[in-house]
Amino acid sequence: MKPSDLKATLSFSDGSPSIDLPVYAGSIGPDVVDIRKLYAQTGKFTYDPGFMSTGACQSTITFIDGDKGELLYRGYPIEQLATQCDFLDTCYLLLYGDLPNAKQQTDFKTLVTQHTMVNEQMQFFLRGFRRDAHPMAVMTGLVGALSAFYHDSTDVHNPKHREVAAIRLIAKMPTLVSMSYKYGIGQPYIYPKNSLSYAANFMRMMFGTPCEEYEPNDVLVRAMDRIFILHADHEQNASTSTVRLCGSSGTNPYAAIAAGVACLWGPAHGGANEACLNMLEEIQRMGGVDKIGEFITQVKDKNSNVKLMGFGHRVYRNYDPRAKLMRESCHEVLGALGLQDDPLFKLAMALEKIALEDDYFVSRKLYPNVDYYSGIVQRAIGIPVSLFTAIFALARTAGWIAQLNEMIGDPEYKIGRPRQLYTGSVRRDVKPVAKR
Ligand code: CMC
Repeated sequence: MKPSDLKATLSFSDGSPSIDLPVYAGSIGPDVVDIRKLYAQTGKFTYDPGFMSTGACQSTITFIDGDKGELLYRGYPIEQLATQCDFLDTCYLLLYGDLPNAKQQTDFKTLVTQHTMVNEQMQFFLRGFRRDAHPMAVMTGLVGALSAFYHDSTDVHNPKHREVAAIRLIAKMPTLVSMSYKYGIGQPYIYPKNSLSYAANFMRMMFGTPCEEYEPNDVLVRAMDRIFILHADHEQNASTSTVRLCGSSGTNPYAAIAAGVACLWGPAHGGANEACLNMLEEIQRMGGVDKIGEFITQVKDKNSNVKLMGFGHRVYRNYDPRAKLMRESCHEVLGALGLQDDPLFKLAMALEKIALEDDYFVSRKLYPNVDYYSGIVQRAIGIPVSLFTAIFALARTAGWIAQLNEMIGDPEYKIGRPRQLYTGSVRRDVKPVAKR
């Protein structure tokens, strides 16, 4: 953190002394005002529900310029990573800070693929769930349960342990997601096949059966890999902040990642891709493209509680760069499968066009986010809607664990402990029940 030439002065209207606050500059992006001594110097806290103006950590991993619509992982633009690298390169980048050279790439792939199996006992844990359980409920349980299986990598203050936990999590997430899918549909689990790429192995575990050899389709594998890259990290979003806060107590890393999975499930976050596809299917049922106007009217009605899912973002006030790349993959996948006339895709494009021209969305700077097209791609690949968020969790695990490890390795790290503005009852005494 570099001190900037600026300092901030905070003064109060009641005549109490003003104070100077240090200002720090990052390598890019807004400066931050350091308020760590505010309470000690003034007896006051800041108030910022939803962390609209609060930087909770320093990080070197991901940078977003929401106005420009720019996303960088370790300085590299997402567009270059999505077109020139694969997901494992991206994981390496997030974890170690730079893209791997040829040897590092091979070694990393070998390392990850050596950890793809899960303890056989996990199957019995999984069997405790109802078959119709939501995959995110199952994933929250399964990822948390990893903490009971891998005791040799839980000393978070040991960098080697942190690295082993990171590799295990990245390697085992595809196995767990596909197991939860297979369990739900009553098919046998397919064990990982380490000669395949990360994405192809995942698709084989999802769609293969012991009866026939599974032939990965290159276009679909590439699209799956792109979905993983685009979802791998996104700065201090709700689930990443959850992982950091949970992990700040020094808890088991698998438990901290399970907390991230739980947070991601919500429809305002990772659950939006599922909600977006359900929304498109609902408009389709209502009558399709002709009903878009009616639907938009409902969205604009503040009393309706209807949102245009897959639109809007806390940080992007411009087109989400991930949405552009996902839109491209959508065309590629539908083309490869001969589904160019897919009614849901046509509906999505028509809805996007109308929304982008509507003053409600324009004035609020609401653009499609990554989830707008990722659901259509996943549906075309054959992934059931209820599994979409689990796939997001699979990919985001790379970012979560990189962020968690960065936090623990930061000498300035402290257990997270926000304060509050208390607005409840002042002190009072308990009266005997007859007098209440
Ligand atoms: N449809 C209709 N109106 C919207 C939408 C939307 N999707 N998003 C925001 N608005 C309106 C909102 O009602 C508010 O209007 P007003 O100023 O009149 O009260 C204004 O736009 C600002 O919205 P906000 O709720 O203050 O914005 P936020 O930064 O708190 O919320 C968001 C961001 C992503 C939660 C929200 O845009 C949303 O709910 N979008 C739909 C869900 C979605 O697609 N989420 C995925 C996010 S990307 C994947 C990820 O990273 O997890």
